[in-house]
Amino acid sequence: MHLSESAMMDGANPFEFDGPVPVDHVIDRQREADAIEAWTREGQLMVLAAPRRYGKTSLIHKVSSEGKRNGLVVVTADLFGVASLADLVLRLERAWAQYTPERLRPTVVKILAAARAGVSISGSGFAVTMADSPAADPLSALRVILELPTQLAQREGERILIVLDEFQSVAGVPEAESLIWQHAHQHLDAVSYLFSVGRPDIVPESPSGRPVETLRLGRLPVTELHEAIKKRFVAGNRDVAGVLDGLLTAGEGHPQRTMLLAHLLWQEVHMGAQATDDHWEAALTMALRLVAPEAQATMSGLSAGQRKVLRAVAEYGTPMAARALRTLGLPKTTAQKATPHLVAAGLIEEMSRGWRVIDPLLARWIRTNYGTRA
Ligand SMILES: Nc1ncnc2c1ncn2[C@@H]1O[C@H](COP(=O)(O)OP(=O)(O)O)[C@@H](O)[C@H]1O
Ligand SMILES: [Mg+2]
Repeated sequence: MHLSESAMMDGANPFEFDGPVPVDHVIDRQREADAIEAWTREGQLMVLAAPRRYGKTSLIHKVSSEGKRNGLVVVTADLFGVASLADLVLRLERAWAQYTPERLRPTVVKILAAARAGVSISGSGFAVTMADSPAADPLSALRVILELPTQLAQREGERILIVLDEFQSVAGVPEAESLIWQHAHQHLDAVSYLFSVGRPDIVPESPSGRPVETLRLGRLPVTELHEAIKKRFVAGNRDVAGVLDGLLTAGEGHPQRTMLLAHLLWQEVHMGAQATDDHWEAALTMALRLVAPEAQATMSGLSAGQRKVLRAVAEYGTPMAARALRTLGLPKTTAQKATPHLVAAGLIEEMSRGWRVIDPLLARWIRTNYGTRA
């Protein structure tokens, strides 16, 4: 029995909604994981793109865990908010310290020691180097750590996948992006790169024009969600059948929002009980309370015009509905100008028919608090 299964029988909440989920809790995404592994073996460069909270990091962990079983070395660096070259070196150093398999550690330690740039995965690393010698050069340290996979692959005959999660942050560090791309091209028969980005407007492109496989992670399919959520409630001796469709409709297939709703519903339903409409209402109310601070911050970060467009999309499903323009006092030209900004910020997206707010709970919060429709 898995740990998580036994935990469920003790009544522990089986729905994580913060950060990457444990690999055995990843719903769906097998095709995506297989594609990444296949591209890695073909020596492709890859981009993984999706809005925040769609499960990019969870998928990366899945790839890493499945890769490990097939002898693939996956080194994942979290580059969120990376601020400088030195900061980047530290992130990469930490990633290697965490993800280097035992069998390769001695070689990695040797390669880094020989490079004499103050980078290390054992003992004191680049942070200490920087503290001890203010003249330490982060650029040469960065080169060393970017050359590490190639050297390691050459010596040990391994295939290595370097994952740079939250890669959009690198745009804030001059020099870093082109240097990373340079290294990414160097030894593709042994070292692959996956650039994961959380902003739809920034999809990295290889400066050399070399083709990059792009995987856009979508929402989770309703049937898979239905099955997985039901199974976890059943395993926890709870019956969710009566309200599950409502939950799935409210979650709109958004991975994190659906898990949050399931988590909150679980909290309402005692072991051995059946989920009722009252339980579901309570869960939804709690969800709106939980998202309120972030929703408020999002709204106040927007210009007046952008705020109106967001409200129009939340309420009318388009930034251009005549009624929305009239009710919200939104000039058409303002709507036209503000819309691309909201797209770039990952707040709204165009679908085959109409528009939607990407976060269904933000949309619901707007409708609940600022509704203008009868
Ligand atoms: N495949 C999945 N199965 C179950 N839950 C998921 C899945 N993908 C995302 N989630 C939910 O979304 C949350 C955020 O996932 P995460 O991997 O951190 O997203 P991202 O890296 O895109 O921001 C998780 O805590 C979980 O609630
Ligand atoms: Mg992530």
